[in-house]
Amino acid sequence: MSSYETLLLERRGRVAFITINRPDKLNALNIKTRAEGAAAFDELREDDSVRVVVITGAGEKAFVAGADIAEFEGRTPVAQRDVMTSRSLFTAVDTFTKPVIAMVNGYCLGGGCELALSCDLRVASETARFGQPEINLGIIPGGGGTQRLTRLVGEGKAMEMILTGDMIDAQTAFRIGLVNLVVPAADLEGKTMEIANRIAEKSPIALRMAKEAVKLASRSNLDEGLRREVDLFALCFSSEDKDEGVRAFLEKRKPEFKGR
Ligand code: COA
Repeated sequence: MSSYETLLLERRGRVAFITINRPDKLNALNIKTRAEGAAAFDELREDDSVRVVVITGAGEKAFVAGADIAEFEGRTPVAQRDVMTSRSLFTAVDTFTKPVIAMVNGYCLGGGCELALSCDLRVASETARFGQPEINLGIIPGGGGTQRLTRLVGEGKAMEMILTGDMIDAQTAFRIGLVNLVVPAADLEGKTMEIANRIAEKSPIALRMAKEAVKLASRSNLDEGLRREVDLFALCFSSEDKDEGVRAFLEKRKPEFKGR
């Protein structure tokens, strides 16, 4: 297992747990953290023992409070564009082949909100705060915020968050569909692990196909999405896991999926 300077990576059975570890800077994403985050996802992609990834922030205050603003100062537009167009952490998460859960334990702002938006599920503590405050710095979201947030919560709510830069609380985030679940801070890790472990029992092949199919809904037109859904469904028929799942149902027992 590799070690990283700005993150902690642990395996907890079939669940990998990534903690962004710059609590003194509220886990702001600097270049190093982004690169290490992308490398961690590459590492986990190759590791068949890992079926689900949880990502969170160190400390009790923040998930991620955004891009590291200190790095913005004095940076040329071309250098900034290079940073943003090199393979990003957001893309690494978005294209990851296994389910990723954001465990949002506090401030989830700017690039932090965009990181959570790149994940498949978001579980938040009651104390979490969400926002796209870039407008307050004279800039706009650049890690997918204008696109993924809008697809998730609709144009009206996305506009409101992006144009005002105001933060919303966890219950509001839940109400607009930005998070899947809100739990008391003390239950956050337990509840997130419970969901992660439940998903980790499924067939990794079916999970992969399911992710790909669901993501197509916002990236293709309906006819193409429906056609590709059928192809991905049929592809599941090539797996031993499908035989096991069907047999286990008929034999009235729990399936044991092997990822083959
Ligand atoms: N980039 C760099 N450093 C950041 C940061 C960011 N996005 N967010 C917080 N920090 C740093 C602070 O500079 C401070 O560092 P210091 O102790 O060396 O001065 C430390 O983290 C703690 O933050 P602080 O602002 O003192 O905490 P707070 O409780 O008073 O306020 C926030 C919390 C989240 C409201 C505030 O930190 C904030 O507004 N952060 C920026 C959010 C943002 O605009 N993100 C989008 C960036 S594009």
